[in-house]
Amino acid sequence: MSNPHFRARRIRGNETFRRMVRETALSTSDLVYPMFSAFGSGLRKEVSSMPGIHQQSIEHIVEECHEVYGLGIPAVLLFGIPESKDAVGSDAYSESGIIQDTIRAIKRQVPGLAVITDVCLCEYTDHGHCGVIVDGDVDNDATLELLAREALSHVKAGADMVAPSDMMDGRVAAIRERLDQNGYTTIPIMSYAVKYASGYYGPFREAAESTPQFGDRRSYQMDPANRLEALREAAADIDEGADIIMVKPGLPYLDILRDLRNEFNLPLAVYNVSGEYSMIKAAAANGWIDEERVVLETMTAFKRAGADIIITYHAKDVARWLTGG
Ligand code: PBG
Ligand code: ZN
Repeated sequence: MSNPHFRARRIRGNETFRRMVRETALSTSDLVYPMFSAFGSGLRKEVSSMPGIHQQSIEHIVEECHEVYGLGIPAVLLFGIPESKDAVGSDAYSESGIIQDTIRAIKRQVPGLAVITDVCLCEYTDHGHCGVIVDGDVDNDATLELLAREALSHVKAGADMVAPSDMMDGRVAAIRERLDQNGYTTIPIMSYAVKYASGYYGPFREAAESTPQFGDRRSYQMDPANRLEALREAAADIDEGADIIMVKPGLPYLDILRDLRNEFNLPLAVYNVSGEYSMIKAAAANGWIDEERVVLETMTAFKRAGADIIITYHAKDVARWLTGG
């Protein structure tokens, strides 16, 4: 800096100036709230590792959707916990599956709320993997057919957008083709394009009851050490017709988010995952951090790194804090 008169603090001295020069804005419109819809009735069970987040039967899901919509949050992301599981995840693409019933109920009672569905098999398979097992590993191409079927059944039930999270190669193309063949050319795909094999999903697996019963997900999710591969994954999904691409988890992968922002011009989503949520909740419960401050700082970091959409379990709190409610 050659300017001898430079003083960064001149525009930092009061909130009015700080507001005028602030580079990043966070808005309730950026948020997506994930929810866990469970088979049954009268069920509302808190996930022990995720305070404030519940497994709920449909009537309670709808009740919370009213609240979410009332807070100005534009969309929910749905996960299903079916009545029963099998080797091929049949409930995932059944017309009367848990998610299909949930979508219809929400669209009937809270029509203004956008419903995005997670498209994957792990919540529906008895072995807990994201696809069908052949010779001890998830078979890519056999899984594609089931994912296409699942996405189509979600859309038929009224889903506004589908979000495949399985990490099979070619699934965006398979889903796009299936939707188009059935006349759903206008339904967008938000692809979990860059999804790492992460320890941060731990609490989610309790919430979704989707822990793999053998092995792990490293043969299909990404190695946390890889950065260039993220660009290849994103490019492949864009090529196949993804409308929005996602990075997951969030905070440990802000560099990847920025890489994608610099490389591609599609809308970018970030998934602030369960383990990230649980860590903040635990520290806040202990009085070790100021929850509101840390959560808003985290959300701002996502926006600063390049995210347009933030999928977060903090969404309702963030919406309240942003509006001073
Ligand atoms: C399922 C899925 C997972 C998450 C979203 N979709 C778990 C996994 O891949 O094991 C994680 C979400 C979170 O941790 O909040 N494919
Ligand atoms: Zn899965």
